[in-house]
Amino acid sequence: MIQRGARRAAGPLDRCGAKSSQDVSVLAVYMLTVSMLGAPLVLAGCARDESPEVAAPTPRAALASVANVSAELPRRRADAGEGARHWERHCAHCHGATGAGNGPLAATLDPRPPNFEDAAYMAGQRPSWFHRATQRGVIGSSMKRFDATLDEQALWDVAFFAWSRPTSAGLESSTRPVFEARCASCHGSDGRGVTDAPLDDPRLANRSRAELRTVLDAIHPDALRDLDDAGRNDLVDLVFTYLYEPAP
Ligand code: HEC
Ligand code: HEC
Repeated sequence: MIQRGARRAAGPLDRCGAKSSQDVSVLAVYMLTVSMLGAPLVLAGCARDESPEVAAPTPRAALASVANVSAELPRRRADAGEGARHWERHCAHCHGATGAGNGPLAATLDPRPPNFEDAAYMAGQRPSWFHRATQRGVIGSSMKRFDATLDEQALWDVAFFAWSRPTSAGLESSTRPVFEARCASCHGSDGRGVTDAPLDDPRLANRSRAELRTVLDAIHPDALRDLDDAGRNDLVDLVFTYLYEPAP
């Protein structure tokens, strides 16, 4: 087997410090947040001892530990870059190299593979369904099960590669500053600042983008104030990256 080391050698912690820390004053962010949200609410969620700079995001490899997490939810942060390797080998000939549903075999299939680059279609799809469909197959179609071919982590890696097709490649650079300014004062850059709502809660995999958007609009109208539809959807996509490392 020529397969390169199954997981990248350096492991989870090599992401720490990968980005330079940003020159944002926590105090300024805090004051801004207070003025947006009103002090009592902020104080309720923000009892953190912050260092003078906003830390670079360092989502950890092991997801937040949450009681009753079923085997069908991810236990570690998935790696869509690893998933891309499995995709090329096992999936692209039907689904297409980029997931558009146009692989060389697609025209011969009935039903045909869906177009995973279609943002409107993908808004309703849950990562947990993408994992399950890959793990067990889709009855009545050529989509076979891969649980004998790929281990559990590889299933999540490739499922997130497929699921993240509509996610913009420049998401981290475009949207991280928005998160730092509007969300990190409570949630922290690592997503764990609000301890009873960690952003890397594996149960997030059971939500679609549309479902998370509905939740955010409902619980955080102030933090989202003045953001247009696209800006809110980008934040939704960014929150999901607490569950997986996007493909390069
Ligand atoms: C032989 C062709 C073929 C191969 C190989 C294949 N798929 Fe599929 N896949 C399909 C078809 C066709 C469907 C649509 C099934 C349906 O709509 O009933 C599908 C459906 C899916 C779905 C469900 C999508 C949805 O919108 O409901 C996922 C997720 C998926 N495939 C992922 C993968 C992954 C990941 C791989 C590789 C590990 C893979 N597929 C390999 C043909 C294939
Ligand atoms: C003032 C502090 C505060 C700010 C600012 C804040 N949040 Fe929250 N967030 C919370 C608290 C507290 C909860 C848990 C309680 C709740 O659900 O209302 C939460 C819950 C969440 C959840 C979990 C929802 C669920 O049901 O699983 C997500 C996702 C989230 N926030 C994302 C964001 C994003 C994105 C931003 C920035 C736009 C943001 N938050 C800004 C305090 C904050």
